[in-house]
Amino acid sequence: VTVDATLDPQLFRGLFRRHAAGVAVITTTADRPVGFTATSLVALSLEPPLLSFNLSRTSSSWSAVEDAEYVAVHLLAEHQEDVAATFARSGADRFATPTAWDFGPYGVPVLEDVLAWMVCRVETRVEAGDHAVVIGRVVEAGYHPEHRPLVYHDGGFTRLL
Ligand SMILES: Cc1cc2nc3c(=O)[nH]c(=O)nc-3n(C[C@H](O)[C@H](O)[C@H](O)COP(=O)(O)O)c2cc1C
Repeated sequence: VTVDATLDPQLFRGLFRRHAAGVAVITTTADRPVGFTATSLVALSLEPPLLSFNLSRTSSSWSAVEDAEYVAVHLLAEHQEDVAATFARSGADRFATPTAWDFGPYGVPVLEDVLAWMVCRVETRVEAGDHAVVIGRVVEAGYHPEHRPLVYHDGGFTRLL
């Protein structure tokens, strides 16, 4: 098809259903812990160590991320499909049991037993369409060498062979 300014949103969604991506949960603290599931995570720069993710400005998490000094970015492990689903559910108490977490560096909520975690200082927010690109500098991090990634593809969670 020819793609122009009137690209059908269903086609756009269909195109990105083809894109396989690792699943992240991004958290921060406002007056309470806030977090959401995201597949828009990108490694942006090595020196300095920057990453980016995209957040809908209509999301319930946006006002917290708009003001956040620090966020925690977690790569989920393949056994954490329930965590991914919880942090994508509108209106849910995403930090209620059984999600295991604790406050980490700079007071951000850090989820337990993840594939990897990175605490970032937010450097830049760029509004783009109905989303914002958020750029963070990694200031503390760790990973679990034995875990394998949770993957999102074609509208569902899957894992690597
Ligand atoms: C696998 C998956 C990936 C997602 N990736 C993003 C993302 O990168 N950016 C975003 O703004 N929302 C993303 N979402 C949607 C948010 O997780 C979801 O909109 C939000 O948590 C819904 O909450 P709200 O209604 O409280 O805003 C994703 C959802 C799923 C299930």
